Amino acid sequence: MKRIVSGITATGNLHIGNYIGAIQYLLKEQDKNNELFVFVADLHGLTIPIDPKLINQNTKEIIKLYLACGLDPKKVKLFVQSEIKEHTELFYLLSTLTNIGQLERMTQYKDKMIKQKNKTNVIPTGILIYPILMVADILLYNPDSVIVGQDQKQHIELTKLLAQKLNNNYDLKFKIPEAQIVKKEGGSKIMALRNPEGKMSKSDNEKNNTIFLLDSLEDINKKITTALTDSENKIKYDPIKKPGISNLITIYSAFSNLSIKEIEDKFKDSNYKNFKEEISNVIINRLKIIQSNFSKLTDKDIKEALKLNRDEIKKIAANSVNKVKKNMGLLNYVN
Ligand code: TYM
Repeated sequence: MKRIVSGITATGNLHIGNYIGAIQYLLKEQDKNNELFVFVADLHGLTIPIDPKLINQNTKEIIKLYLACGLDPKKVKLFVQSEIKEHTELFYLLSTLTNIGQLERMTQYKDKMIKQKNKTNVIPTGILIYPILMVADILLYNPDSVIVGQDQKQHIELTKLLAQKLNNNYDLKFKIPEAQIVKKEGGSKIMALRNPEGKMSKSDNEKNNTIFLLDSLEDINKKITTALTDSENKIKYDPIKKPGISNLITIYSAFSNLSIKEIEDKFKDSNYKNFKEEISNVIINRLKIIQSNFSKLTDKDIKEALKLNRDEIKKIAANSVNKVKKNMGLLNYVN
């Protein structure tokens, strides 16, 4: 049995990129009876200023979506990051093993520096240090692997590095976790629909770039219809020359379970208009079920799902932190 960790930040609404890159993969691993630790990263959601009401609402919505998509709290250890205090504790301990240069080289940090009117950079401290919190999220549970999309790979590299450092410097025995990423053609990086050179993301100002899991069925249809393609009208997978249509093929593949080759064959005499109709249909059919499940879930269901494994999760997390503290030389008369 493999132990796997995965999380989603509590900013904005979830989209089909999150679903294909992470949630769908988790569902497969759940079916294989692996041990999954799945959480909402609400502390990560505070990295950039956010309305307290919104972070609260996003956290509940993501838990509900995890459940609506099919994660079973009896099989998966589902939790909210801030409820397990050890995440912040290990975060500090790990920060003593990193340096600023290492953090400044993170792509997400470079992307998210906010330019002010006078062109100077304002850098919320959280953006610089948040990869360390992510490493803590992972190492607390000492997993074999971490399910993430392509965009998080660099953070997993940092995780490996810090696990090695802990082991070497403090005589600990953390596993060196692998990034478990779906194949590129399988959707490790779903691109923006109107701008297939860039990643589909929660915070895109162009709403037609992103299909949210809770979008209306008309909006889904509209967004697929207006997705950027090319003038060739040939359904062929070629991410370099045909990024738009290749992205749509990847999305269709993820929702239909057909391989790229099977899709190319199926639509070899078709055109973009018909292909787009088919894509809308497969997405709508799946999201209809998810949305119907979602609408039936209540706050009580969330509370119950979170309660189920809380004690065990806390115990595992506390055990990891206590080991690190002890080997780092901190007194531990309390526990
Ligand atoms: P977040 O919330 O940005 O995204 C959640 C998951 O969805 C994946 N993803 C995508 N996959 C394919 N195509 C896309 N366009 C796309 N956009 C996002 C992400 O890679 C991620 O797997 N820092 C993380 C959350 C986190 C975490 C962790 C994950 C915090 N601690 C520990 C794993 C383990 C994040 O912001 O993901």
